[in-house]
Parts: sequence; structure tokens; C-alpha cells
Amino acid sequence: MSSALACLRPHGLRMQATSLAALVTNDPARASDFALRVGPLYANFARQYYDREAWSALQALAAETDLPGAMRRLFDGEPVNTTEGRPALHAALRSDLGVGDTARQAHGQARAARQRMARLVQELAESNVTDIVSVGIGGSDLGPRLVVDALAATNARFRVHFLSNVDGHAVQKTLSGLDPTRTAAILISKSFGTQETLLNGEVVRHWLGNDERLYAVSANLERCAGFGIAEARTLPMWDWVGGRYSLWSAVGFPIALAIGMDRFETLLAGAAQMDAHALQAPAHANLPMWHALTAVWNRNALDARTQAVLPYDERLRLLPAYLQQLVMESLGKRVQCDGSSVAFDTVPVWWGGAGTDVQHSFFQALHQGTDVVPADFIGICRPDHDRVGLHAALMANLLAQTEALANGQDKADPHRVYPGNRPSTLLLVDRLDPQGLGMLIALYEHSVYLQAVLWGINAFDQFGVELGKQLAGGVLAALQDEADVSDPVTAAVLAQLRRT
Ligand code: F6P
Repeated sequence: MSSALACLRPHGLRMQATSLAALVTNDPARASDFALRVGPLYANFARQYYDREAWSALQALAAETDLPGAMRRLFDGEPVNTTEGRPALHAALRSDLGVGDTARQAHGQARAARQRMARLVQELAESNVTDIVSVGIGGSDLGPRLVVDALAATNARFRVHFLSNVDGHAVQKTLSGLDPTRTAAILISKSFGTQETLLNGEVVRHWLGNDERLYAVSANLERCAGFGIAEARTLPMWDWVGGRYSLWSAVGFPIALAIGMDRFETLLAGAAQMDAHALQAPAHANLPMWHALTAVWNRNALDARTQAVLPYDERLRLLPAYLQQLVMESLGKRVQCDGSSVAFDTVPVWWGGAGTDVQHSFFQALHQGTDVVPADFIGICRPDHDRVGLHAALMANLLAQTEALANGQDKADPHRVYPGNRPSTLLLVDRLDPQGLGMLIALYEHSVYLQAVLWGINAFDQFGVELGKQLAGGVLAALQDEADVSDPVTAAVLAQLRRT
């Protein structure tokens, strides 16, 4: 454990002697000093439960772990995915900031793939196709699904539908009402070996009845060809981009179809704006660094076991699901890069939902439950509708909740006491347009990487998802062939399944 990381806990304990409300009221400059603006994105950390001394300790941690150097290594294509010996060059999909051949080549490959993608978008726009079914799961689904849900206009050229779960009900729901002669399907899978995507892909292919409207995005072009998808309708990805960081690549094909190629490029430009900031801004004024240090503070100094993400905008309702994969698949690790066990807690459970709906579901626990849950509140300053009164109410709720959580309320009746001291970060985006959304997502990507650096873990592998997949293969064989399984509980449940 780094000495600066070990130093955080005493600072956390020290916080118990002061309240978050006192930190804010006794330090009038705090509300502005603990805030940053990067283009259309404003962040305010004044309601985090650290004082200036603790903040200095976090800055010392940033220096000790050389966060700026770590950003450089990421952008330059060094093998930051240490267990698999690969770079993680998602930033090269949208920025040309990496030095050296690896990063430059990746950037060139990404641009060439984007040009091919633009041609396919054009071809489809000139066809009779009205609907697109995107088949993929995890990183090959959640990012495009989020962006399409957030940005697609109702009068878009194509309606884009997503199919991820290996569940006939999902297939039925997705395909019902669609005309196979006016639908195209895209199979998205980096490995092209994911059971759910291949099974659903077969069903969709059969339903389409015409391979001419079947497209693929994958790093395994041989498998695409083996599946019968023509090279001309296949777009590449590469082992240097992780699935959960890949929406900027051809994995974003459904996004480009839903919002248009120009707006897809603007999404990338927004992310590139955050890339430049993340790489170039000094640690004390660097938004991803600030966000990552805050996450580590809440986990390791204040012992927070979960973290909420609360977008106050219906169009961002899928953000919590997207971030669950980005954050928890990246940081759900218990050994450091060198294989040694961590001596501290790593990722908390991330969860959340869109406000104000969630105020009427789980906010009771946020205000008065025994667990303190740090939260990211996300708001959009200017809506894309003209119902001014509704937007004012939405924003008023957002601000009121952060204030109530932080400041609490004293009462004689213990049932009506709000303990306060419940930290939150406020992220405001000027507008939810492609640029703003690109910046917001890139902020989280960089924060996740930096948290991994602070913890000394690898943000880019996911061996933890393998065992269940392997076992499912054996159980499926047992279900279909009546074969035996060795685990007695699985065997007993299989017997029940066979009986009913
Ligand atoms: O769930 C594990 C995982 O490997 C994710 O990391 C990935 O995004 C998802 O499966 C889908 O993988 P693929 O794109 O190879 O189908």
C-alpha cells in the first residue's frame, strides 16, 4: 500500500470532528475553489466530505502515484493492460495526442475504419431500410444503447433497437412489429465468440431471411466470415481497445445510424476535448484526477461501500447501467498488477437511477439509512424542450437533494433527524448534445483508469467473468443432453428444471 494511500484513513477519521455543513459555511471560498469547468462541463466537489488538509493529502497521493505520467502512458500506447500485455488506446479512437508509433498507428486505423463506417451508413441511408437491430452484449451494447437513448431524435432516419440478453422474450419483444424486409442487423462482438450474441445473431439472421442486410463489428474477422458475414459489411476493432471503452470505434455503428455520422464525429470531438484536458491540465485542476481522487477518498478514507450515480435527466436513465460495467468490470479487482493482494478496499458497488423518480424509491435510505452513499448528481443546464417550469422543478430537486444530504436537519424527534454529512459531487453539462455527452463519458473513462492507477490494479482485464461462462457451457450440455454434472446443488436444481 502506498504511504500516501495509507495516510488517507487518519484524515477520514479527523473528518468526524467536523460537519460537512461547517466545512462549507466556515470556508466561503470553498464553493468556488472546489469547482472546475472544462468547456461545457462544470463540476463542483464542495459537498465532498474532505477539508483542505485532506485535499492536500490527496494531491500528495496524485504526485506519489504520478497520475500525469500514468495518463501519458495511456495515451502513448504503453502496455497499461499489464496482465494481457496490451495498450488500452480508446483515446486514440478520438484524439491524436499519443506520442510514438503504437498510438499513431492506432489513430490511423481508427480513422480508416470510421471512413468505411461512414460509407456503410450512407449505403443504408440510400436503401429501403427503416429499422436497425443491434445485437451485442456488455461493452458491445451498453455504450451504444446509452448514447442512442440519450441523443437519437424521434424523427431520425433509422429506428435503432438493441438486443442483448439470451432470452427468447427479449428477441420476441425486439423483433415484434419490425418488418424483416426493411430491417438490417449488426452483430457486434469484439471476440465474435460470445454465446449470447452468436445465439441471438443466428435467430435474427434466420428472421431476416437475407444475409445482404447482416453486418458485423469485430476484432475477429475470421469468425465473422465463418458466420457468413461478407467482408464488405464487416467493420474492424482491435485488441488495443477494451469492449467497455469501445463505443468510439465501429462499435458505435448503431450510434452513427441513429444520430448521423456528423453528430457521431461531434461525440468523438467532445471526448477528445476531455482527453486533452485529462492529459494536459495540472493535477490540482484536472477534472478526471479530481474525480478519481474523490472516489478513492470515499472508499478508503470514509469506507463507503457503494456509490450512487443520479442523472437528473430522463435521457441519461441508462447511464447507471453503462457505468456499472465501465467501473465495476474495470475496478472489481482484489490483486494488484504484480499479483499481490491489495491491502485496502477497491471498487464499491455502483448503482443509481434517474431523478426525480428515484427520490420516491431509494432516497429514504440515502437520507436516513445507516450506510453513507456518496453520489454523483448529474444535471443538464439547458433542456431541449420548452417546458421551462418542468425543467426548473427538475433542477430545484437536484440542488435541494444535494443540500439535504450534506447539511441534514436536527429535530427533537429522532425519526425526523437527517444526519447529513452525506457527500456528493455535482456535474452540470450545458446541454445534452453529442459534445457534452462525449465529454461526460470520457471523464468517467479517465477517472476509472486513474482510480486503477491509485490502487495499483489493472483496469483493462476482466478474468472474473470467465469462470461462470465456462461452467454455463457444461450446464447447457447437461440441460440439453441429460448429462450429469458434478456439483450436487446444480444437479438437484437441474432435476427440478427437467421435472417442470
Ligand atoms: O462480460 C464480459 C465481456 O467480455 C465484456 O468485457 C465484453 O464487453 C462483453 O463480454 C462482450 O464481449 P464481446 O464483445 O467479445 O462479445
